[in-house]
Amino acid sequence: MTHTPILFKKYPELQDRIPWINLGNFPTPVEEMKNLESELKHNNLWIKRDDLSGEKYGGNKIRKLEFILADLLKKKKKWIMTFGGLGSNHGLATTIYARGLGIKTVLGLIDQPVTEHVQKQLLRFHYFGAKISYAKNAPGAVLKGLWHLVSKRGVYSFYGPGGSNKIGNLGFVEAALQLAKQVESGIMPEPEKIFLPIGSMGTYAGLAVGLKLAGMETNLVGVRVTDIGMTNEKKTAKMINETFKHLAKQSDDIPQLSVSAEEVNINHEFAGPCYGAVTKEGLDAIQLIRVSEGIHLDTTYSGKALACMLKHIRESESSKGPILFWNTYSSVDLDGIGVKYEDYKQLPKSFHRFFREDLISHH
Ligand SMILES: Cc1ncc(COP(=O)(O)O)c(C=O)c1O
Repeated sequence: MTHTPILFKKYPELQDRIPWINLGNFPTPVEEMKNLESELKHNNLWIKRDDLSGEKYGGNKIRKLEFILADLLKKKKKWIMTFGGLGSNHGLATTIYARGLGIKTVLGLIDQPVTEHVQKQLLRFHYFGAKISYAKNAPGAVLKGLWHLVSKRGVYSFYGPGGSNKIGNLGFVEAALQLAKQVESGIMPEPEKIFLPIGSMGTYAGLAVGLKLAGMETNLVGVRVTDIGMTNEKKTAKMINETFKHLAKQSDDIPQLSVSAEEVNINHEFAGPCYGAVTKEGLDAIQLIRVSEGIHLDTTYSGKALACMLKHIRESESSKGPILFWNTYSSVDLDGIGVKYEDYKQLPKSFHRFFREDLISHH
C-alpha cells in the first residue's frame, strides 16, 4: 500500500523538489523481544523489523532506493552503476528494484571472504540480470566504473558503495521520522540507544538527521564492519552534514545543523580482521536471536551489530533504558528462486574461481 513520506508531510515543499517512489512496506514493525529480555534479564529490548521492508528483497537498502531510483527515473537514466563486496546486499537490492522499473544495473564487486552466502549472491546478481564486473580493490572498481561511464552513455554516475549519499540517505531520515511516530503513538518508548551496523554510513547518517528533526534524544551506536579508513567518525559526520545541507537547501523550515566527529558514536570492536570476516561473537549473537526470537541475521553486518549490543547489555549494569536493535538484513527467502551452483559457469570468467570448493569458509 502506498503512503506519503512523513518527511513530505512535515515539510510539504519537499514533495515537489525531492523525487521519491514507493518500493517498500513502511513503516516496518517495531517489536519487543520478550524472550531475549528474559534470557538477558534486561527489560525493554526492541527490534526494528527492516528485514520486512520489501516483498522482493528487504533490509535497509530499499529505503535508500526509494529516493535513488526515483531520482534516476526523473533524470530518465536507463542504467545504474554501483559498488560493493562480492556478496553485496546493496548490489542485489539495487538490481532487483531497478529491474522492476526498467533500469539496468552494473555492479563493481570487490573481494571479500567467500562464503556460501557470497556464492549465492553472485548467482542471484546474474539471475536478476545485473552486469557484474570484478575488481580486486576499491580503486580498481572505480577505474572499471569510469570505463562503464565512458562506454555507456546514460549510466547513472557512480552510486557509491551502499547507496549512501545525500539522496539515498533521505530514506533513513524518513525511517527516523517513522520511528518517532511509532514512539509517539505508544508502540514503544523512546529508545535510549539504537544499535545498527555501519558500513557505507548512510543508514547511520540518515537516522542521525531524522532523529534530530524529530527532536529525539536517542543515542545511535554504529557498529563498524568495514575498514576504519572507509568507515569512521569524521566521514560519518561529513555525511550527516551533507544530508542536512541538502535538506536545508530544499526547505527554509529545515535548519542547516551540523555535527562534529566527536558527536558520532562508532564502536570499532566487532569488525574482525576484514570486511566480511565471520567472527565468533557475530555467530554467537546470530545463534542467540535465532533461537530466542526466530530472527535470522547475517555474519557480515547485522550479527556484528547484535554482538555489540549484547556486550553492552551484559556489561552495563546501570543502564536499563529501552534499547532498539535495527535489523538491516533482509529476511526474504531467495532460496526458492532456483539458482543452481552450476550456473556459475554463466558468470564472467573472473568470478569462476569463487566457486572453488576450497575457498569457502563453511560455518
Ligand atoms: C545487511 C546490511 N546492514 C547494514 C549495512 C550498512 O549500511 P550502510 O552501508 O548504510 O552503513 C548494509 C550495507 O550493505 C547491509 O547490507
